[in-house]
Amino acid sequence: MLRRVMMAVSASDRIRDVMITAPVARDVVARFVAGATQDDALRVTKELLGQGLLVTLDHLGEHTTDPEQAAAAADEYIRLLGRLADEGHARAGRAEVSVKPTAVGLGLKDHGEKTARENITRIAAAAAAAGTTVTMDMEDQHLVEPTVRMLHELRKDFPDLGCVIQSYLRRSAADCAALSVAGSRVRLCKGAYDAAEEVAYTGRAEVDRSYVRCLRALLAGSGYPMLATHDPRLIEIIQAQTILAGLPADGFEYQMLYGIRPAEQRRLANQGSRVRVYVPYGSDWYGYLTRRLVERPANLTFFLRSLISRR
Ligand code: FDA
Repeated sequence: MLRRVMMAVSASDRIRDVMITAPVARDVVARFVAGATQDDALRVTKELLGQGLLVTLDHLGEHTTDPEQAAAAADEYIRLLGRLADEGHARAGRAEVSVKPTAVGLGLKDHGEKTARENITRIAAAAAAAGTTVTMDMEDQHLVEPTVRMLHELRKDFPDLGCVIQSYLRRSAADCAALSVAGSRVRLCKGAYDAAEEVAYTGRAEVDRSYVRCLRALLAGSGYPMLATHDPRLIEIIQAQTILAGLPADGFEYQMLYGIRPAEQRRLANQGSRVRVYVPYGSDWYGYLTRRLVERPANLTFFLRSLISRR
């Protein structure tokens, strides 16, 4: 319920205008976003790699409304991958990229799926040339089918293309079982969008139980699980289950978001686990930030309090 109300609040144009123009937004954004430019993204990538972490970079932007904008989003990734390669960060997939299908055209009225597929093909080819990989983010429930369809199509040429499964969807344990084949890179997360009860679990405990079922399905197969969560209980379960499954330390990775539980990220890396940090950059941070605020009301309270105290 709270999630739904806050999602609605975050979709309000008036609130959006206040948030974007408030000077304090910069402080809050800086906690979760590397900065506005590729230089910022590369600086943060270098820092994180230096701490023994891995990186996936997300150029902020979603729900692109015209084909030129979609192509420009793909061009941005291609330039970024070139720079990652030049600076030696892409080697062995240490830094890769995450792409939102709607940023590269999936939501376009005409030929959205075809446009997104062509743009992701260009990005995946640039990633392969740079020696690294691409992961397709998963967006709201209506985009799951077309995204999974694109994944199967694109994996014919790019078998290491990663995808995301959201445990809040009722279908996800079956998807995990189907996707858990040799070489298949699957990021498992809880899910950050609003979803209808017919297709999604809405209680936290149900979503967590589904996460564990999905985890087991991934571990029973032969893919490469990328276990995205900051949840301490789930991290303990992942530790125990990966040991039980006999997975070596390089047979899976933890993933967490930039700015969230950084000490835990380093702790896991120091104990020999692979830990990848999802690092967003760019100026179109509104959608990403509101999802982070919705996930944790304390973040929203912090934001609103600073808004009031600075005005
Ligand atoms: P949960 O929300 O229960 O949080 C557990 C603990 O983590 C909290 O108690 C708190 O300590 C900390 N925490 C979590 N979120 C926080 C926040 N915003 N601020 C401060 N502390 C916080 N979703 C999606 O739908 N599609 C996608 O493609 C992706 N991609 C993705 C990549 C990566 C690498 C990660 C880590 C996450 C995603 N997500 C995502 C988001 C995901 O679905 C989910 O919304 C968040 O990870 C929060 O869920 P947790 O598993 O962390 O648990």
